[in-house]
Amino acid sequence: MRLTMVGTGYVGLVTGVCFSNTGNDVICLDVDAKKIERLRKGECPIYEPGLEELLERNIKAGRLRFTLDKKDAYTNAEMIFICVGTPSDERGHTDLKYIHAAADEIAEVLKALGPNQKPKVIVMKSTVPVGTTLMVRDRIREKVGPAIPFKVADNPEFLKEGDAINDFNKPDRVVVGVEDEASGAAFRELYDPFVRNGHPIFLMDVPSAEMVKYASNNFLATKISFINEMANLCEAYGADIGRVREGMCSDKRIGNAFLYPGLGYGGSCFPKDTLACIMMGDKSGIEASLSKSVHAVNQKQRERFFDKIVAHFGGKTGIGGGAAGLQGKRIAFWGIAFKPRTDDIREAPALTLIRKAAGYGATCIAFDPVANANARAELGPTATIVDDMYECAKGADALVVSTDWDEFKSPDFERLKGLLTSPVVFDGRNLYRVATMREHGFAYYSVGRAAVRPA
Ligand SMILES: NC(=O)c1ccc[n+]([C@@H]2O[C@H](COP(=O)([O-])OP(=O)(O)OC[C@H]3O[C@@H](n4cnc5c(N)ncnc54)[C@H](O)[C@@H]3O)[C@@H](O)[C@H]2O)c1
Repeated sequence: MRLTMVGTGYVGLVTGVCFSNTGNDVICLDVDAKKIERLRKGECPIYEPGLEELLERNIKAGRLRFTLDKKDAYTNAEMIFICVGTPSDERGHTDLKYIHAAADEIAEVLKALGPNQKPKVIVMKSTVPVGTTLMVRDRIREKVGPAIPFKVADNPEFLKEGDAINDFNKPDRVVVGVEDEASGAAFRELYDPFVRNGHPIFLMDVPSAEMVKYASNNFLATKISFINEMANLCEAYGADIGRVREGMCSDKRIGNAFLYPGLGYGGSCFPKDTLACIMMGDKSGIEASLSKSVHAVNQKQRERFFDKIVAHFGGKTGIGGGAAGLQGKRIAFWGIAFKPRTDDIREAPALTLIRKAAGYGATCIAFDPVANANARAELGPTATIVDDMYECAKGADALVVSTDWDEFKSPDFERLKGLLTSPVVFDGRNLYRVATMREHGFAYYSVGRAAVRPA
């Protein structure tokens, strides 16, 4: 099939590469000239395990190419996948400006091609508030007139950054909202190679498909806020969330996925998708009170953790708090990405902690295995970004573990202790055993477990 991806971000690029890898003829369009230049050379502009290799292979095979030219991208496509960003605006509403721009550009090319072109399916792959795909259909229809043949569909994406290739190639399910049977048949053909494992393709109406994505992400976000709330109660009442997790998650009805206490969720999806549900609730008069609480618990989780850091140094946050405590301290951070195996730092808890610590007068040093370049661009002079985890800890008054990268899981504790000016670790991911940290003589703070404070 001849396919066009609109946007070569985490979703558009992975989707384009994986569809080309099953033999489709794929063009990826972007408005970012630097990105397209790199992609044409086979260089991957994002860190995603396994992606660059597939990218190179499919470019060489002639099935995958990159363009800035809209006419080139849209003219011969049978399916056009809109994969542009849908960030939250400052009020928490979904900002659809990239969607509108893409729709208008598609309309311009379709109109110029006239009524005798082959019908196209314009597919919403971006996560959008329910109703957006049909709104885009109406917007394009208004611009091109009644004679231009096209349909719309919604095909939400469920890949996880860091595991995106595997998730795309072996999805738990494929969800597609369609307007007619012919579009449904085209999707079945397209996704057939990806569901050989027997996993289902669910064809449904367009609004339901849009809602599946929000319901899924909102549910996962709810699990994270739930376990964090339990962890906070554990701290207050002397229970250990690690033991509570074991006891609770062995119940088959509960399971253990997405029930890890920590700094709360970040990234480009859960925060904005939870906010989008809140916004959809407010707009329709169906108050999304659970989503509101999930969001509030998540935001508070970072604050609570930061309070522990300040309190350790004898300071206080909030009204009456202020500079005391962290003033003049040097704080090291292991991990900047919002989760391991990605260079994505959007809404990363580490950024909140670093900015807050710097705001309270601390000098911040940070290291991430793959997100350093993005962190330098985002944080500027707020933090010094270094290329080695031990160099990061050198001379620091405390270490904060903010991402659960594998390389942070079994560090050389004695070396670390020797490098820190005072042996203090704030573990926002519960990577270490409390007993181990006590044995090594660290002051150790984690989430939902007793703090270790050496005498
Ligand atoms: N990142 C994820 O893990 C993930 C997972 C599932 C769904 N999603 C959803 O997929 C969508 C895309 O997310 P992302 O993380 O890939 O975004 P991204 O910001 O990484 O990429 C978006 C790309 O679109 C390009 N773009 C913007 N306007 C364009 C236009 N008019 N024409 C061509 N290109 C244009 C941008 O330059 C950018 O390269 C969002 O709605 C997101 O919620 C993301």
